Amino acid sequence: MARRLEQKVVLVTGGASGIGRAAALACAREGARVVVADMAVAGGEETVQMIQAAGGMALFVQADVSRGREVERLVQQGVETYGRLDCAVNNAGIQGDLAQTAECSEENWDRIIATNLTGVWLCMKYEIPSLLQQGGGAIVNIASNFGLVGSEGMPAYTASKHGVVGLTKTAALEYAKAGIRVNAVCPGPTQTPLVAHVLSQQPQLANQLVEAITARVPVGRIGKPEEVAEAVVWLCSDAASFVTGITLAVDGGFIAQ
Ligand code: NAI
Repeated sequence: MARRLEQKVVLVTGGASGIGRAAALACAREGARVVVADMAVAGGEETVQMIQAAGGMALFVQADVSRGREVERLVQQGVETYGRLDCAVNNAGIQGDLAQTAECSEENWDRIIATNLTGVWLCMKYEIPSLLQQGGGAIVNIASNFGLVGSEGMPAYTASKHGVVGLTKTAALEYAKAGIRVNAVCPGPTQTPLVAHVLSQQPQLANQLVEAITARVPVGRIGKPEEVAEAVVWLCSDAASFVTGITLAVDGGFIAQ
């Protein structure tokens, strides 16, 4: 069977870990050359090595998505190396500290918004000109189930992810006629270091929290990064040629409740 992303160049932010790593590996497996971007060097290089060990092609570029100059350089480096950009998976994100709206510090708010929302906008700002030059392409922004419903104790995270959904729809409308599809994937609870970080904030409650999270997922378990990566590959591929502006929940039924 033909590979779904043959000949394509895909940029993945936050590719050093979790969902980003799984997306980078899945895209490479489907034939794409992958630009793996992250602030974390060791993890990013490890993802590249994993892709190369499986016979794929990948490049690591260190970049902080909340800084415009770094994102601009990242896109340039990817295009210089592989000659084009076809798809982008804007996935880098942080959870931040858990605190209800009145207790959330300004530092926590600013940090989360800068990475999760400004970061996705900056990525699109610098990716879109390359995609336009190419005559089209596909962008997949990783939002969250909390981009669609509220979540107690995560005001900035929830606002940032609702923002990503709004940005996605806006860019989808703006560039539809130019052949760029822009979609969002909204993962539910997924087994990654991000979830481990949340649990580590309340170690004495970790087991109870896992049980509580699992109980909220209709299918009765936490998702795997590879399950989110499948949706990313499909949205990047030409199989999704008539799909733009959607929010695709990959959440075991979470937001159907
Ligand atoms: P993760 O913590 O395993 O990976 C996130 C990666 O992003 C890390 O490698 C980190 O170094 C990188 N990163 C963070 N800030 C960055 C920045 N400013 N510039 C460049 N890279 C940066 O997290 P996970 O779980 O894989 O999350 C990926 C995305 O999925 C995030 O946007 C997250 O909000 C979203 N998500 C995750 C869910 C989960 O349950 N794990 C659920 C819903 C959404």
